[in-house]
Amino acid sequence: MSTISTVTSLAYLVAAASFVIGLHLMNSPASARRGSQLSSAGMAIAVAATIARIAYDGLITPTGWAVLGAGTLLGAGVGLRSAYTIKMTAIPQLVSLFNAVGGGAAALVAIADFVRLTGVPRASIVPSVMVPTVLDVVIGAVTFTGSLLAAGKLQGWVPGRPLVFPGVRLVNILLAVVVLGGGAYLFSGADNGWVLTAVLLAALAFGVTMVLPIGGADMPVVISMLNALTGTAVAMAGFVIGNSALIIAGALVGASGAILTKLMADAMNRSIANIVVGGFGTGDALDPGAAAIGGDIRQIGAADAAIQLAYASKVIIVPGYGLAAAQAQHEVAQLAVLLQERGADVSFAIHPVAGRMPGHMNVLLAEANVPYTLLKEMDEINPEFPQADVALVIGANDVTNPAARRAGTAISGMPILDVDRAKHVIVIKRSMGHGYAGIDNELYTDPKTEMFLADAKTGLAELTAAIKTLVG
Ligand code: TAP
Repeated sequence: MSTISTVTSLAYLVAAASFVIGLHLMNSPASARRGSQLSSAGMAIAVAATIARIAYDGLITPTGWAVLGAGTLLGAGVGLRSAYTIKMTAIPQLVSLFNAVGGGAAALVAIADFVRLTGVPRASIVPSVMVPTVLDVVIGAVTFTGSLLAAGKLQGWVPGRPLVFPGVRLVNILLAVVVLGGGAYLFSGADNGWVLTAVLLAALAFGVTMVLPIGGADMPVVISMLNALTGTAVAMAGFVIGNSALIIAGALVGASGAILTKLMADAMNRSIANIVVGGFGTGDALDPGAAAIGGDIRQIGAADAAIQLAYASKVIIVPGYGLAAAQAQHEVAQLAVLLQERGADVSFAIHPVAGRMPGHMNVLLAEANVPYTLLKEMDEINPEFPQADVALVIGANDVTNPAARRAGTAISGMPILDVDRAKHVIVIKRSMGHGYAGIDNELYTDPKTEMFLADAKTGLAELTAAIKTLVG
């Protein structure tokens, strides 16, 4: 092995170790920032080693250097700017866009390699070359369009509800025939550009038909699945160009994304196969037009809510997307401290898909230094609701909706937080508007529930002030 090969391999080894240790550090919010920094440093080492290697081997022309430099500057500039300016609530869309870019780039790598192969003697185009190339094109293309559509749904540019058109199953079967048939033909070592183009177009179309019918509450599963596919496509690109750092980084993203997908699907009580085949989670979500619900609701203000909370001995706080949207994490932390000072037993009920990204509530509350010991997962907290004097729901909707317990709704079968089993329920949100799944929440018309209609940040500040006034 030449010296440069040894140095590059060592650099890749250091990078791989950084990725693995970095991922491990991301297990806890306390060390996650260090994990992210370590992984970024590993990626910088891998990129520097790759550039040094291609420079040493003289594999790149002056024009190639110019394109590489311009692309790096442009990509780094856009990445830095979006990371600095993005709102916390828009991070899921950004992650989806990053998935799209990763999948698209991996597919382009394979297409470029395929074009290069057309000049190579046919005998040397063996299945071990074609298999990763074709898989990379297929997985990368599905991820590209699927992730763009998912980002559009999360941003609200495309309706979030399931969009089902007649004959979608037949279209999916036809696309599968083109992808599988064309792929098998290419696996055999054929280098027919038209067949690859057909496979590419079918895979791009499948990304769209796969994500369109998925809506509402099932989006967390599809986002983590697209994340896993991005990693897999990148690993395939690593095989195509023979780059071990890419293989390792892609495999890590693919494996962790796959684990997350399984966790999300379990949390939603869904099977991944059902979600991919499509048309899941329809029911009420197909008619999400009305933003107001039927039945009587009882409204209260800060003063009345303060009386209930000030004298409660057990309070369970249920945070949801609205808490993140209002950036009210510091206000809820202050309220929790105040209630604890008054001797109340306070805990936070964390639903696995509350908010808009995995771990959203944990990250948000960690930012306001809410002790981890107060955060309780759904299975742990649900048996405690019947003993709670007050369940205080803040900007959470779908994850508390008892409609999940009966058939025929967009969230049927999804495990929920058993808020309606508490002795009293106070809900803070701005209006009677729907949650992400687009359906009415039966909790709001429950006789035990009182609605404090306010922005979460303002409402919580008023509530804390009212309790202080009340108790002197
Ligand atoms: P949602 O069901 O989305 O409900 C959030 C509620 O917050 C809305 O009803 C809204 O009502 C209220 N709200 C918005 N801004 C507010 C503000 N400034 N102050 C107070 N309230 C505000 O939230 P959830 O219960 O957390 O459930 C999450 C949903 O998102 C689930 O359906 C889940 O499947 C889906 N989802 C989750 C993820 C992940 S990975 N977590 C990813 C994609 C989708 P008003 O407008 O009336 O205030």
